[in-house]
Amino acid sequence: MIRISEQDLETAEKLLLSGEVVAIPTETVYGLAASIAQEAAIRKVFSFKQRPFFDPLIVHVASLTQAKTLVTHWSPLTDFLARTFWPGALTLVLPKSSLVHSLITSGLDSVAIRFPRHEMAIEIISKVGPLAAPSANKFGKTSPTQAHHVREEFKSENIFVVDGGPCEVGIESTVLEISPDDNSISILRPGGITQSDLTQALKKWSHPVEIKKNQSQKSPGHLEHHYMPEIPLILLVKGEKIENLRLASDLKRGFELRLSEAPEQAARELYANLRSAKSGEFDFIYYAVPESYFGDSNWDAILDRLKRAAQFKSENIKRHLKTID
Ligand code: TXA
Ligand code: MG
Repeated sequence: MIRISEQDLETAEKLLLSGEVVAIPTETVYGLAASIAQEAAIRKVFSFKQRPFFDPLIVHVASLTQAKTLVTHWSPLTDFLARTFWPGALTLVLPKSSLVHSLITSGLDSVAIRFPRHEMAIEIISKVGPLAAPSANKFGKTSPTQAHHVREEFKSENIFVVDGGPCEVGIESTVLEISPDDNSISILRPGGITQSDLTQALKKWSHPVEIKKNQSQKSPGHLEHHYMPEIPLILLVKGEKIENLRLASDLKRGFELRLSEAPEQAARELYANLRSAKSGEFDFIYYAVPESYFGDSNWDAILDRLKRAAQFKSENIKRHLKTID
């Protein structure tokens, strides 16, 4: 992993401590970061992203000790999950302490916390303290997995972007809520850590824990339409022909989204490939999902993003997607 230059670290630190926002790399997607101690900067995050205040931000930490200062309760299962998956693509929703401003949590009593794995993010957080950071894209749009995606998205805001190369995971973190009695966990957003990763890890835990899937209604920002590319995305099932869908007459030039058949690689490619179809050149993007992906938890996060990013869906794929709702 490449380390941050002294100069970039200094610039990022200076800006963050003076109430500015800075785009930082993480292993999932780039984040638009503000120090949790700088209310003005947190407001800038919402306004630059045009994000509604009802959608809470994730707070990024660089140690378990730091995480514990942000919560009022740290249960044995929380500790186990944090030690197993951090640093990494897992976000834990926990009861918030008074150190977390209610702007960050949209007035909720809970705060979402993640310890990212990207070396540059860790170095910046270690210097500046916890950072509130949503994905560095305009609200509802495709997330950025490369520094130039962020620069293109925020041309007029002139944001300092720390370039950490292409994101290794490529899709956002898994957001988890742990029940107060430690008997169940709810997946509020599928992501980089899969259900089978969780099942596997929990085999080492002292008692059985139920995993509740598809709990996105508990996550205020996980909306039906999200992650949308510049031009409409059409989803169908592999074997269906795009010519057979009755598309509007102005949708002529289609861009076929190609993704690896290996889910980890497909996650890495997804957002950059969606962004590569430019309006002017193409009228729509289409992707035909192989049937075998439904019901395979390794594809949950990618199917969730595709479902929300799509403007049009064939009747056939709507039926399949219902099974993952
Ligand atoms: O991988 C990631 O998670 C990236 C990188 C930058 O860390 N961040 C990211 O943030 O995806 P954002 O803001 O795009 O998505 C945060 C999600 C939203 O769906 C929001 O509703 C949920 O986390 N969330 C935040 N706080 C919550 C809370 N207290 N309770 C439930 N859901 C929460
Ligand atoms: Mg986002």
